[in-house]
Amino acid sequence: MRVTGNTILVTGGASGIGLALTKQFWETGNKVIICGRRPDKLMEVEERYPGVHTKVCDVADEESRRELYNWVTGTFPTVNVLINNAGIQQRLNMLSTDLKWSYCHQEIAANLEAPAHLSMLFIDHFVRQPQASIINVTSGLAFTPPPWVPIYGATKAALHSFTVSLRLQLSNTKVEVIEIIPPAVNTDLGGTGLHTFGVPVDDFIQAVFDGVKKGHKEIAYGTSLKVVRASRDVIDDITQQTWDHFKNSC
Ligand SMILES: NC(=O)c1ccc[n+]([C@@H]2O[C@H](COP(=O)([O-])OP(=O)(O)OC[C@H]3O[C@@H](n4cnc5c(N)ncnc54)[C@H](OP(=O)(O)O)[C@@H]3O)[C@@H](O)[C@H]2O)c1
Repeated sequence: MRVTGNTILVTGGASGIGLALTKQFWETGNKVIICGRRPDKLMEVEERYPGVHTKVCDVADEESRRELYNWVTGTFPTVNVLINNAGIQQRLNMLSTDLKWSYCHQEIAANLEAPAHLSMLFIDHFVRQPQASIINVTSGLAFTPPPWVPIYGATKAALHSFTVSLRLQLSNTKVEVIEIIPPAVNTDLGGTGLHTFGVPVDDFIQAVFDGVKKGHKEIAYGTSLKVVRASRDVIDDITQQTWDHFKNSC
């Protein structure tokens, strides 16, 4: 993917990894459009990075996704990059009798339904562009199941699978499909203060940008780099160890 001169939609672009991607692409000569649910956060980005366009949108909602697609392609017909970054992470105790399915479903809707549906919507527009990219943000936890966030891990494993399939289906088009596979990164994911044990977001984004520039299709970093091609035995060990560590730290 060329790293300048694009028109890029970043979902969840007002904080964390999405904001760092927005800043990076804005600084390197791209038009950037971001969406998220919190208008105040979007406004902050507009003020700080003049020229970044924003739209309030809940990507977990099907109708809102269609509205986002229609607005973006209508207002910015040169849009040629979709970064499916928005996501949530919820700790769940499957033994709890208070668990509501609607609560669990939010995670599936935001982390899996949204990127799959937005990809579907944008493909027809993208195949008519001189070049285009769909970039999905999965997780190292797509490869090592995280029992403390079981649905989150399942959505990321499914998004990894979807991304591989999409890349093969689009291989004879001008649309390239890239997977960003973050390790733990210090952001507000899951709630403020829960992700403080990871790598600094700017270091991670620099590595992502370098990977994109080099044409890499799967971009992992740090601990996620160690698991993407690990054997099943190694994965089972890491899964057990991280679960034991989580239980001991509670
Ligand atoms: N941080 C990590 O350690 C880590 C590791 C692996 C993968 N990831 C992935 O990286 C991506 C970004 O996460 P992050 O760490 O940067 O967390 P974050 O700071 O919480 O950012 C998530 C962003 O997504 C937006 N978002 C969430 N649900 C949305 C929805 N339904 N509709 C529209 N926007 C929505 C949020 O904005 P609003 O709340 O305003 O909607 C927020 O801007 C996620 O897909 C996450 O799973 C993160």
